[in-house]
Formats: sequence, C-alpha cells, structure tokens
Amino acid sequence: MRPESWQACISCGNEVVETDPNPRCGRCGGLLEVHHRPPEMRAQELIQQFTERRGGPPGATESGVWRFREIVLPSAEAVVSYPEGNTPLIHRVALDRWAGVARLLLKHEGHNPTGSFKDRGMTVGVTQALRVGAQAVACASTGNTAASLAAYAAQAGLTALVLVPVEGVAAGKLAQTLAYGARTLLVRGDFDDCLRLLEESRDRLGVYQLNSINPFRIEGQKTIILEILQQTSWQPPDWIVFPAGNLGNTAAFGKALREAHQWGLISRLPRLAAIQAAGAAPFVRSFEEGFLRRHRAKADTVATAIRIGGPASYERAVIAIQSTNGVVLAVQDSDILEAKAAIDASGVGCEPASAATLAGVRELRRRGLLERSEQVVGILTGHILKDPGVLLKYHQQIEPPPTWANRPLEIEANLAQIERVLQDSGG
Ligand code: F0G
Repeated sequence: MRPESWQACISCGNEVVETDPNPRCGRCGGLLEVHHRPPEMRAQELIQQFTERRGGPPGATESGVWRFREIVLPSAEAVVSYPEGNTPLIHRVALDRWAGVARLLLKHEGHNPTGSFKDRGMTVGVTQALRVGAQAVACASTGNTAASLAAYAAQAGLTALVLVPVEGVAAGKLAQTLAYGARTLLVRGDFDDCLRLLEESRDRLGVYQLNSINPFRIEGQKTIILEILQQTSWQPPDWIVFPAGNLGNTAAFGKALREAHQWGLISRLPRLAAIQAAGAAPFVRSFEEGFLRRHRAKADTVATAIRIGGPASYERAVIAIQSTNGVVLAVQDSDILEAKAAIDASGVGCEPASAATLAGVRELRRRGLLERSEQVVGILTGHILKDPGVLLKYHQQIEPPPTWANRPLEIEANLAQIERVLQDSGG
C-alpha cells in the first residue's frame, strides 16, 4: 500500500518520500506536489468530522461573541458580525520560564479580524447602533478602537468618525482606519483630549458614540472571559492578567465573571490583575490608596494603546477589582519591551501594550502575590503587526542593541557575503 502522503514532480512524475528535504525534483529540477492517499472515511463521515471539530453549524455561531448571545444581547436579531472571536489559548514553555510560573496560558486576541480584542465589543456596539437607528458612529481612540470601528461601520454601511492623537498612534492602526474608510481626525492633543472633545461634541454632531463607555461594547468584551472559561472546560484559572488603559476590559471582565458565577457557570471567581504602564498608571494610584479617589495623569508610555491618563470606565473597573479580590500593578516600559521581545521571539508576537500582561505576571511573582503553581491566563490584546514602528526601532536602531535585538544585515547579492556572515555569527 502507498504511504499516507508522498511528493511527486509535476514535470517528470518522479516520486520521493514525504520527508525528502529537497525543495525541487532531484531528477529534473521541476516543482514538487504533495499527494495523499484518499481518506478511508466516506465523504459524509468526513464532513461530519470536520463539522464536529469546528464546533457547530455555520451561521452567527461562527462568531465567538454571538455564540454567547443569551448573555451578550439576547434580543439582537440581525447582527453585524465579521465573524470575530474564537481566538486561541496558547502555551509556550519559554514564556513560563521568563515569567517564573508553571503554566501560563495566553489568550491571543490579536487573532481577531482587525487584530485586536476591540472587534468583540464592536460587533455588539455596531449592531446596537443599527438598532437605535444611528446614521453615524464615532470614537476617540489610541488606534485599535478606531480600526475596529472603521471596519464594522464599513460593513454596516454607517459613516464612521474617528478622533485620534496626532502623535503616537501606531502605524498599523492608523493605516487600517484609513483603509476601512473612516473619516479620521488627527487631533493636536492626547487620547484624553480626543475623548473629551468627542463627549462635548457628540450630541451636536448627532453621532452614536462607540467608546467603551458604551455599555454594549462591554457586553461584547465579556466574551473574552466566556471563551476562556469554555476553553478551560468551565474550570476558572486562579488569575486573569491583562493590560489596562481606559478600563473597558477591566469592567467587562469583572461583569462577565460575576454573571458567570451568579448564573452557575463557574463555582469560584478568578482574581483579576490589571496591569498599567508606569507612565500611565492613574488606576494603580487609586488602587494603592484603597480606591479613595480617582486620579488623572499626564500619560506617557511606549505602549501607545494604553497611553491614557483619565480612564473613562473607572467606576465599573473599581467594582471589577473589588469583587474579584483583584490587584492593579504598574510595569516599566523597559519591562514591557523585554516581555514583548520574549513573546515575539517565542514565535507568538503581540503589540507593546499586550506585553504588559507578561511583564505583569513576572511582577506578580516578584512581589510574592502569585505562587509558581497557580493557574494564570494572560490576555494578549493586539497583533504584532499593529506597531511595526516600535519593533523596527528595537531591532534596528537602539544603541547599544538591547539583549534581544535581532539586527538585520545588508549584503551584496553574492554567496561569499552570506558565508562570511554565517561564519561571523557562528552558524
Ligand atoms: N491593549 C490594547 C492593544 C488596546 O488597544 C487597549 C485599549 C488596551 C489594551 C486597554 O484596554 O482601554 O479596555 O483598558 N485601546 C483603546 C483604543 C483605548 O482606543 O484602541 P482598556
């Protein structure tokens, strides 16, 4: 009998084993093709197998948000869905070691259609915008909300208006926002100025606001938690760690957990750990004072997604932290960049703000708040390609090169140069 798979040359028919490393036919130099023995299952059985593995019939349930519609927005009928969600929960031993925990699971929200968790809130927010008869939707953003709003508004046929700071929006996010067709205003100010301006002008302009102050966005973002719980067979981890800026996620996570507990989906609550960048940490200050009062800061951090000084969802986030026995910590930009380099070098990759999660796990360990053996799920909020600027600077420009820097080398187009480079690097 033939093996399960083999390779054959499309020019001369020469067959070689599946594991032959030659990228071309060894006999004539032609291109190779992989062949498989026909499957033993009948077509219907195969289809059933594929359907079962995918986990459900096609339709709105393809979305990892609308799958939970009973606890997201039960009355929604026509939904604006990409679809989104269904993001992987991944594990890399190298990152366990980096953070000093036994087993760290990472929920990679960068796998959403526009590359961040914002799509989960936006599918619900834009669905709601249509339900209330809105003609135009708007947001202030550090970049990801803008990209997501632009994409979902385009799908829904709504006009999108976006206010972003003129400086510090990562290239990938701005590029997406323009490409999806949002009217984009580069405001000479920071995110907090953008949000204030939009709040002031929203009614005059007649736009439906889709920042995370919008409660329907929060309902969608709850599904990050619901999906994690489903992926872990409704056995909650001990901790859920994530970056915090405007505090929409903090609010959504607390609400999702409280409801899941109340409705009997889980029997205990994990602790939430919200991580801020040290240069943009007003929520950390409030936490350290027992939430006696709300703070504002002039925000500055390399993680531009969370460069926010006056978080809008403060009150909801306080409830989330208090009701989960949670903590709020700050990490330095240098730790964020080191964590990011570790995540990237593991082949996973994420944007800078997301790396605050891994830096936060290490910080929780350092402070003795987290035991090595405790179960931790960290959220990676955005895709590695969101912020090519920070990446290229880190790997190509900083002098002296940081420990993890991977300098590219420019060479003439000849073999001797490649050999010299490989010799120099011990390859
Ligand atoms: N991570 C990423 C990649 C983000 O884009 C954001 C927020 C956060 C974390 C923080 O989440 O605001 O719910 O505490 N980005 C918003 C935006 C502010 O406009 O894209 P949060």
